[in-house]
Amino acid sequence: MDVWFEVSWLLLPAGLANMTPPLGTKIPFIRSWSTSIDGGRSWRGQPILGSSKTWRGLILGSLVGGLVGLGQFWLEPTVAWLPNISSPLGAFLFGLGCGLAALSGDLGKSFIKRRLGRARGQTWVPFDQLDFIVGAYLFLSLSLDLTWTHYLAGLVVYGLAHPLFSVLGYAIGAKRDLF
Ligand code: CTP
Ligand code: MG
Repeated sequence: MDVWFEVSWLLLPAGLANMTPPLGTKIPFIRSWSTSIDGGRSWRGQPILGSSKTWRGLILGSLVGGLVGLGQFWLEPTVAWLPNISSPLGAFLFGLGCGLAALSGDLGKSFIKRRLGRARGQTWVPFDQLDFIVGAYLFLSLSLDLTWTHYLAGLVVYGLAHPLFSVLGYAIGAKRDLF
C-alpha cells in the first residue's frame, strides 16, 4: 500500500484527537470544566504546563482518538499493517492510546516551552505543529515496525495539515491563537 495513504490512515486517530481540545471550549456544559492538568502550579517561577492544558482537552481528545479507531475498524478491519487488532474493543483501545499519546506529546512540548520561558499560546514553530505526531509515533513504534519513510511522510502530511486546521479553528473561534 502507498506509504502516504498508510501514514495518513495510521495517524488519523492522533490527528483528530489533537484537533479536539480547542473544540472542547465550545461544547455547552463541558466547556466550563477547565481544570488545568498542572493544577495552576508553577516550577521555578513558570507554570509547569500552563492554564491551557486541561483535563477536559486530554480526556475528550483521547476519547475522540478511540472513536476514530473504532470507525476505522468498522470501515476497514483487515488493514494488514496495523497491529493485531481483531475486535472493535481492540480498535477503540488502540485509537485511545494514539490519542492519549498525541496529547501527551503536546503536554511534553508545553512543559519544555514553559522551561524556556515561552508564554502560553506563544508560537513555537515547528514544535507546536509536530508535538502530537512525535507523541503518536512513540506509541505506534511500540507495536509497529515503521520505516523511516513512514516517519517522514507522516511528519509532512500532518505537519502541513496542522496549520490548515489551525486557521479553520481560529476562523470559527475555537482557537484563541492563530498558530
Ligand atoms: N486545550 C485544552 N487541553 C489540552 C490541550 C489544549 O483544553 N490538554 C485547549 C485550550 O483551550 C488551548 C487550545 O486547546 O488554548 C489550543 O491548544 P494549544 O495550541 O496546544 O495550547 P496553547 O494555548 O498554544 O499552549 P502552549 O503554548 O502550551 O502550546
Ligand atoms: Mg498553541
